[in-house]
Amino acid sequence: MRTVLYNSGPIVSFDVKQPVVGDDLSNEEWILDEGKAIIIEADTIVNIQDSQEALNDYQSDSKTTQLIDMAGRAIIPGLIDSHTHLVWGGDRSREVRLKQQGYSYAEIARLGGGINSTVAMTTKLSDAELFRLSKRRAQIALENGTTHIETKSGYGLCNDGELKLLRVAAMLNEDDSLPSVESTWMGAHAIPDGHNLESYTEDIVRNQLPMVAQSGLARSADVFCEPGWFGIEETKTILIESRKLGLDLRMHIDEFCDGGGGSLAAELAVETADHAHYTNAEARERMKDASVNTGFLPGTPYNLGTDWPDIKSVTALESPWTIATDFNPNNQVLSLPFAASCIVQRCGIDPLAALAACTVNASFITQTKNSHRHGVIAPGAVANLNILSSNQWESWCLTPGHTPFDATLVGGELRINEKAINTFAKV
Ligand code: NIG
Ligand code: FE
Repeated sequence: MRTVLYNSGPIVSFDVKQPVVGDDLSNEEWILDEGKAIIIEADTIVNIQDSQEALNDYQSDSKTTQLIDMAGRAIIPGLIDSHTHLVWGGDRSREVRLKQQGYSYAEIARLGGGINSTVAMTTKLSDAELFRLSKRRAQIALENGTTHIETKSGYGLCNDGELKLLRVAAMLNEDDSLPSVESTWMGAHAIPDGHNLESYTEDIVRNQLPMVAQSGLARSADVFCEPGWFGIEETKTILIESRKLGLDLRMHIDEFCDGGGGSLAAELAVETADHAHYTNAEARERMKDASVNTGFLPGTPYNLGTDWPDIKSVTALESPWTIATDFNPNNQVLSLPFAASCIVQRCGIDPLAALAACTVNASFITQTKNSHRHGVIAPGAVANLNILSSNQWESWCLTPGHTPFDATLVGGELRINEKAINTFAKV
């Protein structure tokens, strides 16, 4: 089946082959003028041409072609959420008042909340129960324009528990009604009861990592490298072992303080180092030289009530950066347009830069099912794209309380958004 989206408004194509950095983040060259048609065959974009030409070519072919009038709506690539913790059970809503009373994230964990309390609640749930919960989360992400999700394990913290979360993530990836899903092992997320840092690190290296690598259920490995969780030495040991076993590397660094994770990220040339909130200037330089992506997660400072990330200094360095939701029990943000609205409205970031950060730039640190190119609107890329309710592309990050999209195409399948303000079906 062929789909022709004609009479488009502006199309933000981002048809480039490397991450967009520095001043190019505001380069309007990637925006195609209105009046185009996007031609899709099966799950792939095959051409972008003038609307009238496309109508001449395909109008008579109604058996094999569906023609869809965009009525001037702007079109942007499918959004890529390159950092989430999607699969877990339980509820930590109660922690909000502790935070307001001045307890820190570490203190709440010591009081019996935090990651280990989610581990206890998650351990009680079956694969089917976890699938039901995380499927609903993936559906909400899709309603908000996300067409690909990276998700991490990390609420099992033992062989069986970690494998269960990775199995559930694989089930999500099999479900074609959802965004595509890729998995990262993050057993190094906290120290489980009955272990200390040294014994758990040893357990990870000896038992957990070989088992995960053998299962084939994770593409990457991630470590919560932060004073009080995994130190530089343990993180290095775990990541070097992960790489030996064929896993790609990611890190959580400097979420609460400058713990030296940025320099280690550069030394190991990891794919992405995320949070990077308190990373010092020298470490940021090293990360740039080692082509390490900086993954900003605006939902976390939003929920922790801390200051906003210093994105402009990373842009000034011409270092690549992304944004992602970091959806987790402490930060239940599933909407990339909301995450973008935080940096646009609070950090003065250009909406075009924010868009590159969760489309084309995020495509270089993620991998789709068939290693298809994504995050761009260009011939040969997977047909993942968003049709806005507006003829102005900037509208994508200006409606934080509701979705800005009339419809989303995921793998070439059109999903009309019944909840959009200006629903596609009615026009
Ligand atoms: O990226 N900081 C470590 N991991 C998550 C939080 C996990 C949790 O609090 O359950 C994060 O913010
Ligand atoms: Fe995270």
